Amino acid sequence: MTFPADFRWGVATAAFQVEGATTADGRTPSIWDAFCAREGAVAGGDTGDPAADHYHRMPADVALMRDLGVGVYRFSLAWPRVRPDGGEINAAGLDFYERLIDNLLDAGVTPWPTLYHWDLPQALEERGGWTARDTAYRFADYAAAVVERLGDRVGTWTTLNEPWCSAFLGYGSGRHAPGRTEPRAAVAAAHHLLLAHGLGAAAIRDTVPGAEVGVTLNLFPVGVADPGSAADWDVARRVDGLQNRVFLDPVLRGRYPDDVLTDLEPYGLRDAIHDGDERIIGTPVDFLGVNYYRDLLVSAVPDARSGLPSEWVGAEHVSFPERDLPKTDSGWDISPEPLTGLLLRLHTEYPRLPLYITENGVAFPDEIGADGHIADTDRIAFVDAHLRAAHAAIEAGVDLRGYFYWSLLDNFEWAEGYAKRFGLVHVDYATQRRTPKASASWYARVMADNGLAG
Ligand code: NOJ
Repeated sequence: MTFPADFRWGVATAAFQVEGATTADGRTPSIWDAFCAREGAVAGGDTGDPAADHYHRMPADVALMRDLGVGVYRFSLAWPRVRPDGGEINAAGLDFYERLIDNLLDAGVTPWPTLYHWDLPQALEERGGWTARDTAYRFADYAAAVVERLGDRVGTWTTLNEPWCSAFLGYGSGRHAPGRTEPRAAVAAAHHLLLAHGLGAAAIRDTVPGAEVGVTLNLFPVGVADPGSAADWDVARRVDGLQNRVFLDPVLRGRYPDDVLTDLEPYGLRDAIHDGDERIIGTPVDFLGVNYYRDLLVSAVPDARSGLPSEWVGAEHVSFPERDLPKTDSGWDISPEPLTGLLLRLHTEYPRLPLYITENGVAFPDEIGADGHIADTDRIAFVDAHLRAAHAAIEAGVDLRGYFYWSLLDNFEWAEGYAKRFGLVHVDYATQRRTPKASASWYARVMADNGLAG
């Protein structure tokens, strides 16, 4: 099963999840540093230190990627290391990313930076965070500062990673930083993140004309528990709107869907939108990044979670019935097949848009064998199945151009702390020793062969 000749193979990480060194070289606190300090917010009381100490071990980690034959490395820059306007520009913070990019280029690995992967400077949160319209303009300043310094050696920029999580987990359910549980704030945050994307894309192109710009969304195919229930179909429409179309349509069509405007009217969406915003948000992108982990099955029948603070602003009574499917260590259903339909849908509904799977991966409770080896055959099977689903979409005509495994290294899995391991490479957090798992050599083979055997 061979992929197109120019298919890009990569691995992904994000700054707060791997770097550690949260006070080094002028980095200021982010909302995640503040959130981790809150009792009970993160499993095990874990924090952004030491993570995988990548800030200090970067050259060795790049060498590891070179040895695996990684083509493209997706990473994020920490806004609080660069910090406009959570503080003046910090040259030392930019130096780190310049060294990283230079190491990658020397190693023959293409850098694929994301500007925002959830670590908002705490100083900006104190001025309202993503609920403040001003934060979108500060993001554009930050983007310009980064691209001015690094734009000569990077061809492709991603503005945001999974704005749904920033808005609805951050300000709706409060499962993520900054841990607020205010539905109206979540909706304002979603709009301001979209505005940040549009302003940021323009700032990138103003600084480096010809730069490729995109955004990464976490998209979910949504199915119904009872196909005979009109209420279930309505919940599915809402969840698809609140999870997928609320981001896809403004970015790719320059307007919010009417049903989403209606569903979110009670939460102030129309009030948050100023004249001209949708035009800014709809500035053309060169690609869409899709993060895929699983699909969703929804029902309108309340369950034990109904009524709790929810990320499903506008569909608070949605429930997610249990399915008899194998689960990952995160408790997520393993469901590779719906990825094909998701990619096809994007290809059909938003034509002529190059797609990348910017994340797909899995946490399993990896066991280190007596010989020190980690035989994670479950992870290999997971990736194999998702690559087959992606390949089926390509066969059906989808312009899918690349795949990034999440993650290169075990790392800080947000509210779950260090307990969930997604890496191709195991990290012993006490010694910072890296041990490639069986999946690492398997994936190295896939990248070298440009596909799957058999
Ligand atoms: C989505 C996020 O972008 C990433 O930060 C996270 O670790 C993975 N998915 C796994 O949950």
